[in-house]
Amino acid sequence: MTEHLSPAEVARYERDGYLFPYKVMDAAEVAEARRRIEAFERKLGGPLPKELRHRPHLYSSTIDAIVRSPRILDRVESLLGPDILCWESVLFIKESKDPAFISWHQDAAYWGLEPYDVLTAWVALSPSTRASGCMRVLPGSHAGGIAAHKDTFAPNNMLSRGQEIQVEVDEAKVVDIELPPGSMSLHHVKIAHGSDPNTADDRRIGLAIRYIPAHVRQTIGRDDTATLVRGSDHYRHFEPEPRADGDFTEAGLANQDRLRRRRMEILMRPAA
Ligand code: NI
Repeated sequence: MTEHLSPAEVARYERDGYLFPYKVMDAAEVAEARRRIEAFERKLGGPLPKELRHRPHLYSSTIDAIVRSPRILDRVESLLGPDILCWESVLFIKESKDPAFISWHQDAAYWGLEPYDVLTAWVALSPSTRASGCMRVLPGSHAGGIAAHKDTFAPNNMLSRGQEIQVEVDEAKVVDIELPPGSMSLHHVKIAHGSDPNTADDRRIGLAIRYIPAHVRQTIGRDDTATLVRGSDHYRHFEPEPRADGDFTEAGLANQDRLRRRRMEILMRPAA
């Protein structure tokens, strides 16, 4: 059984810039993924440090399996075509009652990826609700250009530069992407989005997976990397990445550290 999107869903994505919810993991799978992440955190002695939140699929075969899940990729394929690379994954963890938030922004402003055929599959590993600080989007905002952004470096802002869109967001039009554990949303790289702090009693854990079709290129630097997760890559715009050889292994953690630094170097280059 495939789980591709219907033509009506594809049309809705093109109009609104997002789709949700889609169940992509069973309760037992979500519980097991969360258990493994939290067992690793206990070993580390605290919440996953910032450096380890980026591209966990490179050091965790549990997360690598989610990134390659047919239930996710069938839907992604309906929007991006058959040749799909995972460019990035991020664990967005908001502790209960933590003031961390994400200012309104468009991802396309910072990633250097062009053309903008880029989407994020956001998978909830714990309840993502208005109270726990779920992602919020401005429907249709992907259809225009990229607004000016300002680097605020604000404390508690979870974005690397505290980047914030210089446009008034009409609260009446905002949609809350509420997701139960195991469900995902899909959103376009140009859609304006943000999120509020987690006021709920549980941690809010989400895995954001950034997918691109093989024809997309990195315009800020030539030395970027990505993982082919479906089809084939005839373009070779990205260097292939080593696959996780287990959960939290030394080799996997070393690969993630090396490739994360390389990515940071590319993204932190001043815009031309
Ligand atoms: Ni974003």
